Amino acid sequence: MPRKSPLSSRSTVIAGNWKMYKTIDEAKAFVETLAPLIEKSQATVYLAVPFTAIHATAQLVKALDAPIVIGAQNMNDATEGAFTGEIAARMLKDAGAQFVILGHSERRHIFNESNDFINKKVKRALEDAIQPILCIGETLTQREEGETEAVLREQLLGSLEGVSSDALLKMLVAYEPVWAIGTGKVAHPDDAQAAHAHVRGVLAENWGDEVANQIVIQYGGSVKPDNAADLLSKPDVDGLLVGGASLSADSFSKIINGSKA
Ligand code: 13P
Repeated sequence: MPRKSPLSSRSTVIAGNWKMYKTIDEAKAFVETLAPLIEKSQATVYLAVPFTAIHATAQLVKALDAPIVIGAQNMNDATEGAFTGEIAARMLKDAGAQFVILGHSERRHIFNESNDFINKKVKRALEDAIQPILCIGETLTQREEGETEAVLREQLLGSLEGVSSDALLKMLVAYEPVWAIGTGKVAHPDDAQAAHAHVRGVLAENWGDEVANQIVIQYGGSVKPDNAADLLSKPDVDGLLVGGASLSADSFSKIINGSKA
């Protein structure tokens, strides 16, 4: 099993996922408040805002020279076409998004997205040079039935089918147990570590140790300022994907400032 070595180049990536919250004005006010609070942080900070706020926040981040990378929360796998209500990778990039969350459990469970569809989106994002954060995670029933490792393997291999090692190195993976999302029930750091080590092991088996050792694997699910550091202290937890606690600049900055580079 590959382990984080002292030579590992994995940096800490703290991402906020705003989901369907904040208007353009609210998003801009948030960025203005957050930027000075995280000036000294060594972590890389990502913010996945609603589609409508991408352009304004990307412009603002540039104007403020703020250490925040703006991204999106979903996209379609086609380059363009008659897909009412959908959005293409190149449109996201055009608006200023540098990354996109794909396969989030809310997309998988509420909107019935399959590994196959997510795989197509991952490939499109990579082809159109927007960085995917691929989310995977088991439900409570799957965990209780001892299926966690098998589910993570299936989601990983299904969503990453046909992705080359070079392309994989451009991505992030987020382990988000469904039972921990929005519930206040954070995974125990040891359980998060076990899942992350398993994910890295599956990546190593299929893409080699060297590649697996370089991939940033984030944990997501009820991350708060008071549990973030314990999660990040685990060797295979390289970052966090934060939902509710990223909506307030106060709590998000505390999570960011509590983390190491
Ligand atoms: P919460 O932090 O609100 O549990 O959400 C996690 C999440 O879904 C991030 O993508």
